[in-house]
Amino acid sequence: MKCSLLLFLLLLLFFFIIFSSTSKLSGAASIVRTIAVDPNHKGDFTSIQEAIDSIPNNNTHWIKIHVAAGVYREKVNLSQSKRYVFLEGEGAHRTSIEWGDHSPDRRGHGGKATATFTSSASSFVAAGIAFKNTYDGSVNIRQALAAAISGDKSSFYNCSFIGFQDTLFDRKGRHYFKDCYIEGVMDFIFGNGQSIYEVSIPFNSDNMELFLRWILFVM
Ligand SMILES: *[C@@H]1O[C@H](CO)[C@@H](O)[C@H](O)[C@H]1NC(C)=O
Ligand SMILES: *[C@@H]1O[C@H](CO)[C@@H](O)[C@H](O)[C@H]1NC(C)=O
Ligand SMILES: *[C@@H]1O[C@H](CO)[C@@H](O)[C@H](O)[C@H]1NC(C)=O
Repeated sequence: MKCSLLLFLLLLLFFFIIFSSTSKLSGAASIVRTIAVDPNHKGDFTSIQEAIDSIPNNNTHWIKIHVAAGVYREKVNLSQSKRYVFLEGEGAHRTSIEWGDHSPDRRGHGGKATATFTSSASSFVAAGIAFKNTYDGSVNIRQALAAAISGDKSSFYNCSFIGFQDTLFDRKGRHYFKDCYIEGVMDFIFGNGQSIYEVSIPFNSDNMELFLRWILFVM
Protein backbone atom coordinates (compact mmCIF):
# COMPACT_ATOMS: atom_id res chain seq x y z
CA MET A 1 0.00 0.00 0.00
CA LYS A 2 2.70 2.43 1.06
CA CYS A 3 4.68 1.35 -1.94
CA SER A 4 1.91 2.08 -4.43
CA LEU A 5 1.29 5.49 -2.86
CA LEU A 6 4.96 6.28 -3.28
CA LEU A 7 4.84 5.10 -6.87
CA PHE A 8 1.79 7.28 -7.48
CA LEU A 9 3.53 10.34 -6.00
CA LEU A 10 6.63 9.66 -8.08
CA LEU A 11 4.52 9.42 -11.23
CA LEU A 12 2.78 12.66 -10.31
CA LEU A 13 6.14 14.35 -9.86
CA PHE A 14 7.36 12.93 -13.17
CA PHE A 15 4.34 14.32 -15.03
CA PHE A 16 4.68 17.63 -13.26
CA ILE A 17 8.29 17.95 -14.37
CA ILE A 18 7.55 16.86 -17.93
CA PHE A 19 4.55 19.15 -18.26
CA SER A 20 6.17 22.13 -16.62
CA SER A 21 8.99 21.91 -19.13
CA THR A 22 6.79 21.45 -22.19
CA SER A 23 3.99 23.80 -21.14
CA LYS A 24 6.37 26.64 -21.83
CA LEU A 25 5.70 25.88 -25.48
CA SER A 26 2.08 26.94 -25.27
CA GLY A 27 1.90 30.64 -25.89
CA ALA A 28 4.11 31.85 -28.67
CA ALA A 29 5.59 34.54 -26.40
CA SER A 30 7.79 32.02 -24.63
CA ILE A 31 9.65 31.11 -27.81
CA VAL A 32 12.09 33.96 -28.15
CA ARG A 33 13.38 33.16 -31.61
CA THR A 34 12.56 30.97 -34.60
CA ILE A 35 15.28 29.79 -36.93
CA ALA A 36 14.11 28.54 -40.33
CA VAL A 37 15.79 25.65 -42.11
CA ASP A 38 14.83 25.15 -45.73
CA PRO A 39 16.57 22.99 -48.34
CA ASN A 40 15.62 25.48 -51.07
CA HIS A 41 17.47 28.43 -49.50
CA LYS A 42 14.25 30.12 -48.37
CA GLY A 43 15.21 30.03 -44.69
CA ASP A 44 18.17 31.01 -42.54
CA PHE A 45 20.04 27.75 -43.15
CA THR A 46 19.86 24.71 -45.41
CA SER A 47 21.16 22.28 -42.78
CA ILE A 48 19.78 21.49 -39.33
CA GLN A 49 23.26 21.23 -37.81
CA GLU A 50 24.11 24.76 -39.01
CA ALA A 51 20.95 26.04 -37.32
CA ILE A 52 21.92 24.31 -34.06
CA ASP A 53 25.47 25.65 -34.27
CA SER A 54 24.08 29.20 -34.51
CA ILE A 55 22.46 28.89 -31.04
CA PRO A 56 24.71 30.27 -28.30
CA ASN A 57 26.07 27.76 -25.79
CA ASN A 58 24.23 27.62 -22.46
CA ASN A 59 21.15 29.11 -24.07
CA THR A 60 18.35 29.70 -21.51
CA HIS A 61 15.39 30.68 -23.70
CA TRP A 62 13.26 28.47 -25.91
CA ILE A 63 14.38 28.64 -29.52
CA LYS A 64 12.37 27.01 -32.24
CA ILE A 65 14.09 25.49 -35.24
CA HIS A 66 11.45 25.11 -37.92
CA VAL A 67 12.52 22.56 -40.50
CA ALA A 68 10.68 22.78 -43.83
CA ALA A 69 9.59 19.60 -45.60
CA GLY A 70 12.44 17.70 -47.19
CA VAL A 71 15.02 14.99 -46.67
CA TYR A 72 18.04 16.27 -44.74
CA ARG A 73 21.00 13.98 -45.40
CA GLU A 74 23.16 14.81 -42.42
CA LYS A 75 24.02 13.58 -38.96
CA VAL A 76 22.73 15.98 -36.35
CA ASN A 77 24.29 16.49 -32.91
CA LEU A 78 22.58 18.57 -30.24
CA SER A 79 25.29 18.90 -27.62
CA GLN A 80 24.77 19.36 -23.88
CA SER A 81 25.18 23.13 -24.06
CA LYS A 82 22.29 23.64 -26.53
CA ARG A 83 19.33 23.53 -24.15
CA TYR A 84 15.77 24.79 -24.76
CA VAL A 85 15.53 23.77 -28.37
CA PHE A 86 12.22 22.97 -30.02
CA LEU A 87 12.85 21.12 -33.28
CA GLU A 88 9.73 21.33 -35.40
CA GLY A 89 9.29 19.56 -38.73
CA GLU A 90 6.32 19.69 -41.09
CA GLY A 91 5.19 16.15 -40.25
CA ALA A 92 7.14 12.91 -39.94
CA HIS A 93 6.14 11.92 -43.49
CA ARG A 94 7.43 15.19 -44.91
CA THR A 95 10.49 16.21 -42.90
CA SER A 96 13.19 13.65 -42.22
CA ILE A 97 16.81 13.45 -41.14
CA GLU A 98 18.57 10.48 -42.76
CA TRP A 99 21.98 8.88 -42.52
CA GLY A 100 23.13 5.28 -42.80
CA ASP A 101 26.05 4.58 -40.45
CA HIS A 102 26.43 1.16 -38.87
CA SER A 103 28.91 -0.21 -36.36
CA PRO A 104 31.95 -1.89 -37.89
CA ASP A 105 31.50 -5.19 -36.10
CA ARG A 106 28.95 -7.49 -34.56
CA ARG A 107 29.79 -6.56 -31.00
CA GLY A 108 28.57 -3.04 -31.58
CA HIS A 109 31.85 -1.19 -31.10
CA GLY A 110 31.24 2.47 -31.82
CA GLY A 111 27.51 1.76 -31.90
CA LYS A 112 26.31 4.97 -30.34
CA ALA A 113 28.29 7.06 -32.80
CA THR A 114 26.17 5.61 -35.62
CA ALA A 115 23.10 7.60 -34.54
CA THR A 116 21.67 9.87 -37.19
CA PHE A 117 20.43 12.17 -34.42
CA THR A 118 22.24 12.51 -31.09
CA SER A 119 20.80 14.69 -28.35
CA SER A 120 22.60 15.28 -25.06
CA ALA A 121 20.82 18.54 -24.25
CA SER A 122 18.20 18.78 -21.54
CA SER A 123 14.89 20.58 -22.17
CA PHE A 124 14.46 19.44 -25.73
CA VAL A 125 11.23 19.03 -27.67
CA ALA A 126 10.78 17.59 -31.17
CA ALA A 127 7.55 17.48 -33.15
CA GLY A 128 6.58 16.27 -36.60
CA ILE A 129 9.95 15.00 -37.77
CA ALA A 130 11.41 11.60 -38.70
CA PHE A 131 14.80 10.31 -37.55
CA LYS A 132 16.07 7.57 -39.85
CA ASN A 133 19.02 5.28 -40.12
CA THR A 134 18.89 3.98 -43.68
CA TYR A 135 21.29 1.04 -43.14
CA ASP A 136 19.44 -1.96 -44.55
CA GLY A 137 21.37 -4.84 -43.01
CA SER A 138 23.24 -5.63 -46.21
CA VAL A 139 26.61 -6.17 -44.47
CA ASN A 140 25.03 -8.14 -41.67
CA ILE A 141 23.26 -7.52 -38.40
CA ARG A 142 24.91 -4.38 -37.09
CA GLN A 143 24.05 -1.60 -34.69
CA ALA A 144 22.63 1.27 -36.71
CA LEU A 145 20.93 3.87 -34.57
CA ALA A 146 18.39 6.40 -35.74
CA ALA A 147 18.55 8.40 -32.51
CA ALA A 148 20.48 8.43 -29.22
CA ILE A 149 18.81 10.52 -26.52
CA SER A 150 20.64 11.23 -23.28
CA GLY A 151 19.50 14.70 -22.25
CA ASP A 152 17.02 15.07 -19.40
CA LYS A 153 13.46 16.39 -19.91
CA SER A 154 13.17 15.57 -23.59
CA SER A 155 9.86 14.99 -25.32
CA PHE A 156 8.85 13.87 -28.79
CA TYR A 157 5.46 14.38 -30.41
CA ASN A 158 4.35 12.97 -33.77
CA CYS A 159 7.86 11.78 -34.58
CA SER A 160 9.11 8.67 -36.38
CA PHE A 161 12.19 6.66 -35.48
CA ILE A 162 13.07 4.30 -38.29
CA GLY A 163 16.01 1.93 -38.47
CA PHE A 164 17.14 -1.65 -38.76
CA GLN A 165 18.81 -2.72 -35.52
CA ASP A 166 18.85 -0.66 -32.30
CA THR A 167 16.76 2.15 -33.76
CA LEU A 168 16.18 4.18 -30.62
CA PHE A 169 18.84 4.43 -27.93
CA ASP A 170 16.91 5.80 -24.97
CA ARG A 171 20.16 6.23 -23.15
CA LYS A 172 19.35 8.16 -19.95
CA GLY A 173 17.13 10.91 -18.59
CA ARG A 174 13.39 11.50 -18.38
CA HIS A 175 11.77 11.26 -21.79
CA TYR A 176 8.25 11.33 -23.12
CA PHE A 177 7.24 9.91 -26.49
CA LYS A 178 3.73 10.80 -27.62
CA ASP A 179 2.09 9.66 -30.86
CA CYS A 180 5.39 8.53 -32.29
CA TYR A 181 6.10 5.63 -34.62
CA ILE A 182 9.09 3.38 -33.91
CA GLU A 183 10.30 0.76 -36.36
CA GLY A 184 13.18 -1.68 -36.41
CA VAL A 185 14.01 -5.32 -36.85
CA MET A 186 15.91 -6.11 -33.64
CA ASP A 187 16.27 -4.62 -30.18
CA PHE A 188 14.88 -1.47 -31.54
CA ILE A 189 14.34 0.38 -28.27
CA PHE A 190 17.07 0.06 -25.67
CA GLY A 191 18.86 2.02 -22.97
CA ASN A 192 18.35 3.18 -19.40
CA GLY A 193 16.05 6.17 -19.90
CA GLN A 194 13.12 6.72 -17.51
CA SER A 195 10.60 7.15 -20.25
CA ILE A 196 6.91 7.05 -20.97
CA TYR A 197 5.89 5.77 -24.40
CA GLU A 198 2.52 6.40 -26.01
CA VAL A 199 3.54 5.19 -29.42
CA SER A 200 2.81 2.69 -32.14
CA ILE A 201 5.17 -0.12 -33.00
CA PRO A 202 4.58 -2.47 -35.94
CA PHE A 203 4.14 -5.97 -34.63
CA ASN A 204 5.40 -8.90 -36.66
CA SER A 205 7.06 -12.27 -36.18
CA ASP A 206 10.53 -10.77 -36.72
CA ASN A 207 10.32 -8.44 -33.80
CA MET A 208 7.78 -10.18 -31.58
CA GLU A 209 10.28 -11.97 -29.41
CA LEU A 210 12.39 -8.89 -28.89
CA PHE A 211 9.33 -6.79 -28.33
CA LEU A 212 8.27 -9.12 -25.55
CA ARG A 213 11.75 -8.97 -24.11
CA TRP A 214 11.54 -5.23 -24.18
CA ILE A 215 8.25 -5.25 -22.29
CA LEU A 216 9.81 -7.49 -19.65
CA PHE A 217 12.81 -5.20 -19.50
CA VAL A 218 10.80 -2.04 -18.92
CA MET A 219 8.67 -3.74 -16.26
C1 LIG B 1 28.63 27.13 -20.44
O1 LIG B 1 28.59 26.49 -19.16
C2 LIG B 1 29.74 25.72 -18.90
C3 LIG B 1 29.50 24.93 -17.62
O2 LIG B 1 28.84 25.70 -16.65
C4 LIG B 1 30.95 26.65 -18.82
O3 LIG B 1 32.11 25.90 -18.57
C5 LIG B 1 31.11 27.38 -20.16
O4 LIG B 1 32.14 28.32 -20.09
C6 LIG B 1 29.80 28.10 -20.52
N1 LIG B 1 29.92 28.63 -21.89
C7 LIG B 1 29.50 29.85 -22.24
C8 LIG B 1 29.67 30.23 -23.67
O5 LIG B 1 28.96 30.60 -21.44
C1 LIG C 1 28.46 16.26 -30.26
O1 LIG C 1 29.13 17.48 -29.97
C2 LIG C 1 29.82 17.49 -28.74
C3 LIG C 1 30.36 18.89 -28.49
O2 LIG C 1 31.06 19.37 -29.59
C4 LIG C 1 30.93 16.43 -28.79
O3 LIG C 1 31.60 16.39 -27.55
C5 LIG C 1 30.30 15.07 -29.07
O4 LIG C 1 31.30 14.09 -29.21
C6 LIG C 1 29.47 15.12 -30.33
N1 LIG C 1 28.76 13.86 -30.49
C7 LIG C 1 28.65 13.23 -31.66
C8 LIG C 1 27.90 11.95 -31.64
O5 LIG C 1 29.13 13.68 -32.69
C1 LIG D 1 0.52 16.06 -33.45
O1 LIG D 1 -0.40 15.76 -34.48
C2 LIG D 1 -1.75 16.03 -34.13
C3 LIG D 1 -2.63 15.50 -35.25
O2 LIG D 1 -2.19 15.93 -36.49
C4 LIG D 1 -1.90 17.53 -33.91
O3 LIG D 1 -3.24 17.83 -33.53
C5 LIG D 1 -0.95 17.97 -32.79
O4 LIG D 1 -1.00 19.36 -32.64
C6 LIG D 1 0.49 17.55 -33.10
N1 LIG D 1 1.32 17.83 -31.94
C7 LIG D 1 2.36 18.65 -31.98
C8 LIG D 1 3.05 18.87 -30.69
O5 LIG D 1 2.74 19.17 -33.02
